[in-house]
Amino acid sequence: MDKRQRYIEQKAEQAKIDGVVCVCKQVTERRIRKAVNAGHRRFVSVKRVTEASSSCGLCQPFVEDIIADTIKRRK
Ligand code: FES
Repeated sequence: MDKRQRYIEQKAEQAKIDGVVCVCKQVTERRIRKAVNAGHRRFVSVKRVTEASSSCGLCQPFVEDIIADTIKRRK
């Protein structure tokens, strides 16, 4: 296993423990929910304030699900 692969796997493990949704930017689910509760209800807005999904972009569907769920819970 090369260094890069090992790094990616370590980050994924850490993500499971810390609730990190965006591994690239180390953004947690809690931080995303906080941004939504502070009035950022669109993906682009949450992305701008938290930096979630602003690197590889693979986490975008997960970030969008959390935004939708947070909005639904507030109703
Ligand atoms: S995991 Fe979120 S931008 Fe890469």
